[in-house]
Amino acid sequence: MHGAINWRTSIFMIHHQGDPYLSSPMASRKNRSLVLRLIVTAIGSFLFVGPCGASGGRRGRWRLLMNNTGVVPMHMALTHLNTVVMFDQTGFGPSSYRLRKRLRGKKRCKATGADLTDTSCYAHSIEYDVSSNRIRALRLDTDPWCSSGSFLSNGTLLQTGGYRKGSRGIRYFKPCNSDWCDWRQSKRSLSVQRWYSSSQLLPEEGNRVILVGGRRAFSYEFVPKHSSTDRSHDLPFLHRTHNRDNDENNLYPFLHLSSDGNLFIFANRDSILFNYRRNRVVKTFPRIPGRGSRNYPSSGSSVILPLEHGNGFQKVEVMLCGGSAPGAYEAAGQGKFLKGLQTCGRMVITGNRHRWKMEKMPKPRLMHDMVILPTGQILIVNGARRGAAGWNRATGPSLRPYLYDPTKESGTRFSIMRSTKVARMYHSSAILLPNGRVLVGGSNPNKVYTLANVTYPTELRLQEFIPHYMDRQYHNLRPQNLSVQYNSSSDSGVGYGGEFTVRFRLGRRWQSKAVEFTAYAPPFTTHSVAMNQRMLWLHGASMVREQGGWVRATVEAPPSPEVAPPGYYMLTVVNGGIPSFSHWVRFINA
Ligand SMILES: *[C@@H]1O[C@H](CO)[C@@H](O)[C@H](O)[C@H]1NC(C)=O
Ligand SMILES: *[C@@H]1O[C@H](CO)[C@@H](O)[C@H](O)[C@H]1NC(C)=O
Ligand SMILES: *[C@@H]1O[C@H](CO)[C@@H](O)[C@H](O)[C@H]1NC(C)=O
Ligand SMILES: *[C@@H]1O[C@H](CO)[C@@H](O)[C@H](O)[C@H]1NC(C)=O
Ligand SMILES: *[C@@H]1O[C@H](CO)[C@@H](O)[C@H](O)[C@H]1NC(C)=O
Repeated sequence: MHGAINWRTSIFMIHHQGDPYLSSPMASRKNRSLVLRLIVTAIGSFLFVGPCGASGGRRGRWRLLMNNTGVVPMHMALTHLNTVVMFDQTGFGPSSYRLRKRLRGKKRCKATGADLTDTSCYAHSIEYDVSSNRIRALRLDTDPWCSSGSFLSNGTLLQTGGYRKGSRGIRYFKPCNSDWCDWRQSKRSLSVQRWYSSSQLLPEEGNRVILVGGRRAFSYEFVPKHSSTDRSHDLPFLHRTHNRDNDENNLYPFLHLSSDGNLFIFANRDSILFNYRRNRVVKTFPRIPGRGSRNYPSSGSSVILPLEHGNGFQKVEVMLCGGSAPGAYEAAGQGKFLKGLQTCGRMVITGNRHRWKMEKMPKPRLMHDMVILPTGQILIVNGARRGAAGWNRATGPSLRPYLYDPTKESGTRFSIMRSTKVARMYHSSAILLPNGRVLVGGSNPNKVYTLANVTYPTELRLQEFIPHYMDRQYHNLRPQNLSVQYNSSSDSGVGYGGEFTVRFRLGRRWQSKAVEFTAYAPPFTTHSVAMNQRMLWLHGASMVREQGGWVRATVEAPPSPEVAPPGYYMLTVVNGGIPSFSHWVRFINA
């Protein structure tokens, strides 16, 4: 605790010129990055030398949540009701979640051979409730293996594609506060089969997505369609980036919506900026330096770095890390596991100067997830050091997450977090929770559920990684009891360019300049791809201190749906690098 006081002191020294008791406008975003950098440095140096306590210190800690989820969470997505939809493939026989009766059917499952292929007698999808730490079974009608997804602006998950009969499937999951909601298979279908495609919600229409790529699908399409004649559109970029041998390396392309409304598409080693309204390539970016590939089955990962109100959200920078060496997929098939890629590249995709800035992770890595934390740092978790994605094509589990701080000086941005004991190889995933922790599940490089006698068994343990900022020693700095109020007759959300009120409690003396607001779009995550993940530093227009440590802040919503497509976002108040629990806020097209 003595350490915490030093730390507070160092922040106050940085900010001594600010008004501590404010009802004044808050620091501009220009000041912010400098201020934040100083704060981060202060936290960093304090934590390095200061007492760490019993809580895990700077390197975070791991906690086992469940021993057996029954179903491998190959795909995960957090709903705005704080539940997590998880699912696996359905095509390779039973999971470990035996149902006593068919879901939604009266007939009981019989212990006959037929039951083993009868997917209705085993669950292949579950819903996990974060606060009660419980799961329940969901029912899938077609196989969503290696599919894609996006949350619509009303919080319903639109999930698309998959395998065999599921490869043209369109499914909806409308979250509810009871045990009755389930998957709904649409009667419509995709124009072409989409296995390993990516999905992005379109900004102008909050219930429509674009799907890009997939195995033997060198095209994109919209869902739902505006007319029956609108089908899939050829995308030559996907032909060009496709390796003709076994490797392919352009599946699950990385998609990021730029704040100018164009779509950044990265596949293999190349990228374009694409105007999907006009079917036109706006920019072709330089190839990322170095050999090897970044997309499935090379399976690096990518994020759009946090967007900032200080530049009007006009500067958009993407980052991607890891992947596989040339020929790694083929080599792994012959038992030779090539070292993965150790590099990350960052590139600004707005403006007109584009250059990849390369940096190195502590170790080579592939099949990892990149999760943007509420502090704006990136957690790199799961994966392996050698090989490629695919059945048993990787070795050397990466047990230590990396924390990447984009605001630090190059060369000092990575730090190594505490190691887990659970290998998370092919078919694992990770997502951010509203309690600031990262949910980690899955791993199954085996075709059928194989719980023993293989190097990497089917993994049914569910864990969370708890970053240092959630430690109890920071509770006195943590904003508490968040609530969000919309400032209009409509209580369904805040319109673009509008303001909303955030109320929270901050116990001790605090600095307005140290208080910041982030909004985070929860992704659909699978195979190292977090579709629709994005984070924004929002502008706090004013803050007023009230009785009993309560603070009332007016926060500006993003200016346009291109900056933040409509839907539910996790709002977090961050005080000197220590985040609150998140509260949902909804941005709407008024
Ligand atoms: C998991 O199983 C172990 C061994 O049976 C048990 O000690 C532990 O409490 C279980 N953990 C949870 C979270 O269920
Ligand atoms: C959201 O929109 C979709 C598509 O229009 C619809 O199927 C779904 O029922 C809606 N969900 C809610 C919660 O209203
Ligand atoms: C694993 O191998 C051991 C020894 O060969 C055998 O006894 C056991 O049944 C096997 N377990 C499974 C789950 O196959
Ligand atoms: C604030 O939240 C805590 C739990 O974090 C709760 O125990 C407490 O009752 C809340 N206080 C108010 C005034 O809502
Ligand atoms: C409510 O929002 C409008 C426009 O978004 C703004 O002009 C007005 O000042 C806001 N009022 C309050 C009380 O925040």
